[in-house]
Parts: sequence; structure tokens; C-alpha cells
Amino acid sequence: MLIRRPADIAPSEITDQTIYRQRRNFITGAAAIGVSAFLPTQATASTKLPNIKKSAYQVNEALTPFKDVTTYNNFYEFSTDKSGPAIIARNFTTRPWTVTVDGLVHKPMTFDIEDLLKFSLEERVYRLRCVEGWSMVIPWLGFSLNEILKRVQPTGSAKYVEFTTLLDPERMPGQRYPVLNWPYVEGLRLDEAQHPLTLLALGLYGEVLPNQNGAPVRIVTPWKYGFKSTKSIVRIRLVESPPVSSWMRAAPSEYGFYSNVNPDVDHPRWSQARERRIGEFLKRKTLPFNGYGDQVASMYAGMDLKKYF
Ligand code: MTE
Repeated sequence: MLIRRPADIAPSEITDQTIYRQRRNFITGAAAIGVSAFLPTQATASTKLPNIKKSAYQVNEALTPFKDVTTYNNFYEFSTDKSGPAIIARNFTTRPWTVTVDGLVHKPMTFDIEDLLKFSLEERVYRLRCVEGWSMVIPWLGFSLNEILKRVQPTGSAKYVEFTTLLDPERMPGQRYPVLNWPYVEGLRLDEAQHPLTLLALGLYGEVLPNQNGAPVRIVTPWKYGFKSTKSIVRIRLVESPPVSSWMRAAPSEYGFYSNVNPDVDHPRWSQARERRIGEFLKRKTLPFNGYGDQVASMYAGMDLKKYF
């Protein structure tokens, strides 16, 4: 991974969580009493997602400001600079868009993005810990990937799930350079992909996904390093053997298949014991499985996580 020292991000000047919550409450309240016609024009034309349910998945920590979530990004299809994707992906067109789910399944299906948006969406506040040593707390909108996996009915020989990002160097200019082996590919074990925490995300902070965060649809696997959370996916393929991810292909000694957040396993070039929450000054301890151990550790019982890093 091209590692740059994270530039210091100005702390939460912009949409802090109180303003966000107030805005949410106002819009939800207005919809409930049928006064949406009186909302300002901007709200009518906004990219807000309606009918979002609250979920039980709520990290009780300060949300990372919207400004930081949307201007400090890793999205190499657009730029290897943290601030680049917000600018270069501004006009990325995400319609039409489909996600094909195939491979070792009884019922292969192709979902139009508009149909994915009709699933019952919920808000989940997850920590996201990047392998580079920074983290954020983000209110994602989406639903468990397993909702889709159940529909396609994996066959008995499906053991892994491979995620593939769109390949289109015209629309994703970073793909014109051999920074990675394009398209971006990642994978999960089938039980990890079926785990209720694994999210198919279609939005954040009440709105459709900003382009730089992986529009129109991405994966979020909160107990793993951020690079496992593939952006702008077009294909989900069920397979028998572990997929070789783009990062494993680029640097096999640095990026393993599992990539569970683990403070006890250093990256070959730096420690993973601590992290910097974006917007905070002092570093904090990194938690095993990014704090999701109670929910996910049992999937790795008996495995040597230093070997299967
Ligand atoms: N997905 C694609 N297709 N391309 C990428 O470069 N970067 C990954 C991941 N998914 C990446 C990707 C990395 S390294 C991280 S940390 C997260 O996206 C960052 O997600 P965010 O920008 O929404 O915070």
C-alpha cells in the first residue's frame, strides 16, 4: 500500500453530530406530519435516503465529522492522495449500475441499484480502522450483505466470496496507472460475508453514498482493516478457494487474506498497537477485532491469527 503520513486534519468545524442529528430529526419529523412540501427546495432536491431505521449497531463514540469522512479517503481508482477522491470523483456517474451475484449459487441474480435502495435500510454506526493507523466512526446506511446471499442460495461448495469494483478507466482515471492490479478485488470467507455485521452500504450520514466513499454501493466489514471494505462494487462471486485480493497480489508479505484488526500483529513496516482517530490529537489503543470481538472472535476459534493475518 502506498503509505503517506496522514496529514493533520482540521478538527470538527463542519457538520458535527449534534447538527446532523437535529437535521435528521427535522426531516424525519416533517415527513411524519406530511409537510414535506414545505421543506426548503434544497431538501427536496437532496440526496437524502428516506425511511431509515435505527439499528442496534451503534458505537457509543463521537461520530467523525461528515467533512472528514468525505475528504480524507482511500480510493485509488481516483487518486492516491487522501484529498484527491473528493475532487476527482465529483462527476463520477453511478447510473445505470448493477451488481451481479453469481458463481457457486443456485440462483444467480443481477440487482439494479434502484432495487438495492428499496431494501429495508438501517443506520449503523461502525468504527472503521485503516491499516495505515487512523480510524473513524461513521453512521453508515445499508443492510446485511447476507440478505442478498440468502436470495442467491450458495451451493455446498461455496466457501468464499469475492468482491469486484467497477473496471472503467474512462470513469475511474486512477485505473489508467498500474498502481494496483485493476479491477480492485477483495474477499471474505463465506461465514464472514454472512455475518450480520457485514454491511452492504448504500449511504452515510443520512444521504446516498458520496462518490469518494464508494458510490453507489460498497462493502463495510468493521472488524477488518479498511481495505477489505470494497468500494463501488459490480460483482459478488461465490467461489471455492480464497480469492487473491489486489493488496495480496501487490504485497503478499504485508497484506494477508484475513486482515482482522489486530494490535498484536504488526504490519512489517509499522506497529498496529495504536491508532489516531481522525479529528483527535492523542492516539488511542487499537482494540482486537476493532472492538467487535464479542461478535466475531468465535469465527476464528483455534486459528493462529499471527499466521492467518
Ligand atoms: N475500494 C476500492 N475499490 N479502492 C480503494 O482504493 N481503499 C480501501 C477501502 N476500499 C479502496 C477501497 C481502503 S485502504 C480504505 S481504508 C477504505 O476503503 C476507505 O474508505 P473511506 O474512504 O470511505 O473511509
